Amino acid sequence: KEVNDKRLNTKLEFAKTVVRDAGAYLKAHLADDLEISEKTHFDDLVTNLDGEVQDAIIAKIQETFPDDHILAEENDVRHDINDGNVWVLDPIDGTTNFIVQKDNFAVMLAYYESGVGKLGIILDVMNDNLYWGDGQTSYRNSTELQLTAKPLAQSLIGVSAYMYRTNAGGLFDLSHKCLGVRAIGSAGIEYTNILDGKIWGYFSNLSPWDYAAGAVLIAPFGYTTLKLDGSPLDFQGRQMVMSIPENYRIVLSETKSI
Ligand code: IPD
Ligand code: CA
Ligand code: CA
Ligand code: CA
Repeated sequence: KEVNDKRLNTKLEFAKTVVRDAGAYLKAHLADDLEISEKTHFDDLVTNLDGEVQDAIIAKIQETFPDDHILAEENDVRHDINDGNVWVLDPIDGTTNFIVQKDNFAVMLAYYESGVGKLGIILDVMNDNLYWGDGQTSYRNSTELQLTAKPLAQSLIGVSAYMYRTNAGGLFDLSHKCLGVRAIGSAGIEYTNILDGKIWGYFSNLSPWDYAAGAVLIAPFGYTTLKLDGSPLDFQGRQMVMSIPENYRIVLSETKSI
C-alpha cells in the first residue's frame, strides 16, 4: 500500500522499517536487566533501551536523509517543528508500562514539513500492530481504517491520570457525559485506541513527540488535536492537549463552563 503523495513514499517505507526494527529490538531485549534512571522525579523514568532505540533511529535518519532535522525525547534532541523537514521521535512511549508491565508501550515516529504533519507511525509493540498514515488515509498493518466517532454518551474517553486527578479542563464533569474513563499510560496506545474506535477522545499533558504521530493518524477522520484551551498545537514543551472529534468542541466548552 502507498500513500497518495508519491513524493513521500520513500520516507514512509523508511519510517515503517525503522519503527518495525525498533519494535523487534525491544521485544528481543524484553527479558534484559534494564538500566533505569530517574529524569525529573521518581516516577519519570528512562531506561537504557529508550536511549539505544533513539540513537539507532536517529543514526538511520541522518544517514538516509542528511538534510532533515530531528526532534526527539531523550538527550535534548530538539529542532523547531516549523523549520524545514523534521522527524519527531518517541523511542519508547509508555516507558513506565515498558518497565512494569512489559505491555502497553509504543514506538512513535512522525515526519513534518514546515510544521505540517506528513507522516505518522505508531507501533503497538506487543500486539505487532503498525498504524501508519499520511494525514489523508490511515492504516493498521494492511487494513485501511474507517472511523466515525459515536456520540459521547455512548463512548469512553482516554485521559492521563494526572489530568484526571487535577480535574484539568473539567474532565470530572466531562466524565459524567460519557460511559467511563480509561487511563492506559501510553499516548501512543491511546491514539491507536481512538483509531480502533475504542475511545472517543484523549486528554493528556503531552510533549510534541507524544502527539506528533497520533495527530497525523487521526486527522482523516475529522479529529483535531489542540491545546486544552482550544488553541492550536505549538510543539513547545509539555502542555495539556486534547484529541477529539472536531464537531465536539462545543460540548467541551459547555462542560468547562459548568
Ligand atoms: C508518557 C506517556 C504517558 C503520558 C505522559 C508521557 P513516555 O510518555 O505517553 O501516557 O501521560 O505525559 O510523557 O515518557 O513514557 O514516553
Ligand atoms: Ca519519558
Ligand atoms: Ca511519550
Ligand atoms: Ca518516551
